[in-house]
Amino acid sequence: MPSLDKFIIRGGNRLDGTVTISGAKNASLALMPAALLASGVTRLENTPRLRDISTMSALLERMGVVVRHPGTSLELDTSNITSYEAPYEMVKKMRASFYVLGPLVGRFGQARVSYPGGCAWGPRPVDLHLKALEALGADIQIEAGYVVASAKRLRGADITFDVSSVGATGNTLMAAVLADGTTVIRNAATEPEITQLAAFLVRMGARIDGIGTNLLTVEGVDELQSANDTNIPDRIEAGTFLAATAAAGGRITLEHVEPQHLTAVLGKFREAGCTVLTGEDSITLESPERLSPVDVTTAIYPGFPTDMQAQWMALMAVAPGTSVVTDTVYLDRFNHVPELQRLGARIEVNRNAAVIRGVERLTGATVMSTDLRASASLIIAGLIADGSTEVLRVYHIDRGYEAIELKLRNLGADIQRVDSEDY
Ligand code: UD1
Repeated sequence: MPSLDKFIIRGGNRLDGTVTISGAKNASLALMPAALLASGVTRLENTPRLRDISTMSALLERMGVVVRHPGTSLELDTSNITSYEAPYEMVKKMRASFYVLGPLVGRFGQARVSYPGGCAWGPRPVDLHLKALEALGADIQIEAGYVVASAKRLRGADITFDVSSVGATGNTLMAAVLADGTTVIRNAATEPEITQLAAFLVRMGARIDGIGTNLLTVEGVDELQSANDTNIPDRIEAGTFLAATAAAGGRITLEHVEPQHLTAVLGKFREAGCTVLTGEDSITLESPERLSPVDVTTAIYPGFPTDMQAQWMALMAVAPGTSVVTDTVYLDRFNHVPELQRLGARIEVNRNAAVIRGVERLTGATVMSTDLRASASLIIAGLIADGSTEVLRVYHIDRGYEAIELKLRNLGADIQRVDSEDY
């Protein structure tokens, strides 16, 4: 039963100060299953303490992995794997559970992983993952809602993805590293989380060329060894704090961040009138006197990430003028729109584009959302709305933001978590 905590936000405070950015959730969710590819102890530093990470830990524990997570150092002991299954209850909670498929088939020649259903913003297919595994020689059957995959040993193949997919690239890489022969992955995802995964696989002994490009070549090896790694910073958490500050007004410095991962996003903040300075691992943003409306179109990396689209819309809701946010990655990811409208935003959605007419002020109300980034956009809206905003279903936020209310409070926001017993 997920927690029924809610946030109560009193809007109007400026945000000033410094925030330390946590490790990237989506990179951790790929690195953790990669540990299954070898027997032994893996240590992953800068692993955020999030609900999605606990879900992945619980899934790995069911397979026999011994997990310890003191602070932000995650230790996985994969010496005694006893099960090759990802059950429905877990995959339905978190689609990234599907990442165990590639490493299980690659190393153990078998896997039984629940077929993911739809998600909060529509169908999210896994056809590319399955086609790639079949190309690598796996036999794939769908039985009682499960993907049942088996192979004696996978063999290298030449794979071209029709669509650039983070998950399918990750799964295919993890399967191919132990395959017999050469695998070529064309139109591979180049998101930093995939680059991090590939680099980690190389630390484990994998042979991968083209890391960071959309053409990956993998020479399969017979065995991998456990390795340690340090996770990259979370570029979406970083972008969310920047959007909150640009909207609420103020000056913020992010520490432990990788500015290069945010090039497209920082460009948009500059266009909106913000002053943005970058250091080696820091970003400082100062809000403008008056925001300018700026269109964004989401795209694969290095484009503007779909995971920042909802937060950008909250910002544009109070930028004088008209802007358009178009999502080309997920065509119907607009859950947050009706809730932002409840706070007074003027937004109209036509197919995969939202037209936002900036208003002078938003007004507090009770809102909720069924997904992580949509919930983040509601928090931003709450920070700028007059009066009090209650954001329900905080458990979505806890999936992907580490102690967001504490970090925001340190910047001067008035935000409280109220636990379920209090109402
Ligand atoms: C990952 C991220 C998610 C982010 C998304 C896009 C994780 C855990 N999640 O999700 O936060 O929003 O990348 O940056 O890293 N597609 C297919 N067939 C497939 C797989 C994908 O058609 O088999 C399509 C999807 O519907 C979508 C596009 O490919 O339109 C990109 O999705 P993908 O990159 O696979 O997203 P995820 O890996 O699920």
